Amino acid sequence: MTMVYDDLGDEAAEEVPVRKIKFTINGKKKIAEIEPRLLLADLIRRGVGLTGTHRGCDTTNCGACTVLVDGAAIKSCTMLAVQVDGREVTTVEGMATASELHPLQEGFKQEHGLQCGFCTPGMMLAAKALLERNPDPTEDEVRWALSGNLCRCTGYQNIVKSVLWAAEKLRVEG
Ligand code: FES
Ligand code: FES
Repeated sequence: MTMVYDDLGDEAAEEVPVRKIKFTINGKKKIAEIEPRLLLADLIRRGVGLTGTHRGCDTTNCGACTVLVDGAAIKSCTMLAVQVDGREVTTVEGMATASELHPLQEGFKQEHGLQCGFCTPGMMLAAKALLERNPDPTEDEVRWALSGNLCRCTGYQNIVKSVLWAAEKLRVEG
């Protein structure tokens, strides 16, 4: 990946520390040379070019930047990119296969779980982490799992229905 730094003069520029990390994102192996202070959200969006991971607040409040790291939902605006060295990251772009939507994506479509769609990738990844640890959640458990993700449009009702729809589909499919 290419990084652009402020020009502070030759001597200062040479002192910018760089770390080399190896990680997997949506099944693809990557190597990145990055500043230690780089946020994971920036590595994903500007480094890898996957802009489905949104940034709404940069203060760990909205959840729009949620991705999975080794299967756990985390807010990528709050994690340093160096922390994914040797780990596996999943973003919304990694949910569908070439021919099929993920059941959660289908659920959001079937139950009208989105309006503007800004919160949707984060909602789906938080829900994915939930369904992997609890395939048959109650409505309250879905609401709790999504409580770190804000939506300005939908009123949440249809988001919860979408997750329950996907949970049922995943159980039926086995
Ligand atoms: S952008 Fe990360 S929580 Fe809002
Ligand atoms: S659909 Fe617009 S913020 Fe959730």
